[in-house]
Amino acid sequence: MTEELFINQQVSKEKKYQELLPQLEALVSGENDLIANLANLMAALKQAFNFWWVGVYVVKNDELVLGPFQGPIACTRIIKGKGVCGTAWQQAKTIIVDDVDQFPGHIACSSLSKSEIVVPVFNKNKEVIMIIDVDSEKLADFDQTDEVYLNKIANLITNFV
Ligand code: SME
Repeated sequence: MTEELFINQQVSKEKKYQELLPQLEALVSGENDLIANLANLMAALKQAFNFWWVGVYVVKNDELVLGPFQGPIACTRIIKGKGVCGTAWQQAKTIIVDDVDQFPGHIACSSLSKSEIVVPVFNKNKEVIMIIDVDSEKLADFDQTDEVYLNKIANLITNFV
C-alpha cells in the first residue's frame, strides 16, 4: 500500500478527486480490516480537501452509529429518518444540503457546520450498510462533482465489506 498521498492543491476539485481515487484504491488494497480502511479513507479525504468534518456512520441494529471520522466530536447515534444522515439512509440516496438550517430536523453536531453531503454505502445486496457524511463550514460547498466521486468512494467500500 502507499503510505504517502500525492495531493496537488493547485488543481480543480474534480482533478483532485481523479488523482486521489487510484491512491485510495491502492490504500485499501491488501488490507481487509474494515475499521482500518475506513479510518484511512476518511483521513485521506480530510487531507485532500480539508473538509470541516468527514466520517462514516455505520448501520447497527437499526440505528446509525458513529464510525471512523476526522474533525470535531460528533453525535454517536442517529435513528432512521432523522437529520440528513438518517434521511439519506431511509431514502437510500445521496443528499446535498446547501444550508443545513433550512433542512427540517437537521442534527446540529456543530454550529459551525453550514452545508453537507451524505452518501449511502451499499452492500452487494443493495442494502445501505453505512453512510459517508461530509460537512463544510461554508454554505453550498458541495455539488455534483462531490456526489460523483464520493459515490465512487462508496463503491470502493462496497468492494471490501
Ligand atoms: N449532519 C448530520 C449529523 C451528523 S454530524 O453533522 C457529524 C445530520 O444532520 O444528519
